[in-house]
Amino acid sequence: MKIETSVALVTGANRGVGHHYVAHLLAQNAAKIYATARDPGTLRETVALDPQRVVPLAIDVTDTPMIAAAARRAHDVTLLINNAGALTFGGALDVSEAGLSRDMAVNNDGLREMTRAFTPVIEANGGGAVINMLTLLSLVSAPGFAGYNASKAAAWSMAMSLRAYLRPKGIRVINAFPAGIDTDMLAGVDAPKDSPAAVVRDVLAALLADQEDVYPASASNVFAAWRADQKAVEAAFAEMM
Ligand SMILES: NC(=O)c1ccc[n+]([C@@H]2O[C@H](COP(=O)([O-])OP(=O)(O)OC[C@H]3O[C@@H](n4cnc5c(N)ncnc54)[C@H](OP(=O)(O)O)[C@@H]3O)[C@@H](O)[C@H]2O)c1
Repeated sequence: MKIETSVALVTGANRGVGHHYVAHLLAQNAAKIYATARDPGTLRETVALDPQRVVPLAIDVTDTPMIAAAARRAHDVTLLINNAGALTFGGALDVSEAGLSRDMAVNNDGLREMTRAFTPVIEANGGGAVINMLTLLSLVSAPGFAGYNASKAAAWSMAMSLRAYLRPKGIRVINAFPAGIDTDMLAGVDAPKDSPAAVVRDVLAALLADQEDVYPASASNVFAAWRADQKAVEAAFAEMM
């Protein structure tokens, strides 16, 4: 897939990784980018990157009617980036019920609802791609993020099912499994973090290389270790709180 002819839509584009997606897509000459956020008023800095090509749009990925309205408006999309995410801190037995539900609603159900709404759009535009921002925690759990782990493991499973369903429609599904990234999500967590720019660069390179799964930046080393010895990585992650 060529980025320079694509019309992209990024969820959670107002900050963090989503803002960097918009910047990198612009640098790689995307034709148009719908930068979406729950509150479009928070998109000022993202739109300012290039007001000609960046179109602000309201999307809360847990709001199905709002997603449907956005799919009618953004009828030229060929590349959907399911980036919006939520993380509630807490262990398996003490995470709040509200936090568990929110993480699942945003990270798994939101990914599915966005893909459901934009599949006919991308198909009508001749095919394209969906990028899903998963995490290494889709594969192996860190105990202090129990609800997030579960929601992202579910999202990985859902994304694999979507991949098989969308392939005959000419829509590729690229699943990204980053390690920790230096954004608001992990602010206050003392751990090694990759820059959002390095993560986005590697994911977009995977899109161009027709790669299905991508372990961007430092995630590639962790994934190699996991492939070699899953139990050792599980034990190492169990130490992380
Ligand atoms: N940071 C990491 O260490 C890390 C590692 C691996 C994977 N990831 C994944 O990468 C993606 C981006 O994360 P990030 O680090 O940029 O996180 P972030 O800085 O916390 O930003 C989260 C983004 O998601 C949006 N969002 C949350 N709930 C939403 C909803 N219901 N509808 C629409 N947007 C919603 C937020 O919008 P508001 O401003 O309105 O809250 C914000 O734009 C996420 O899927 C995350 O799980 C992150």
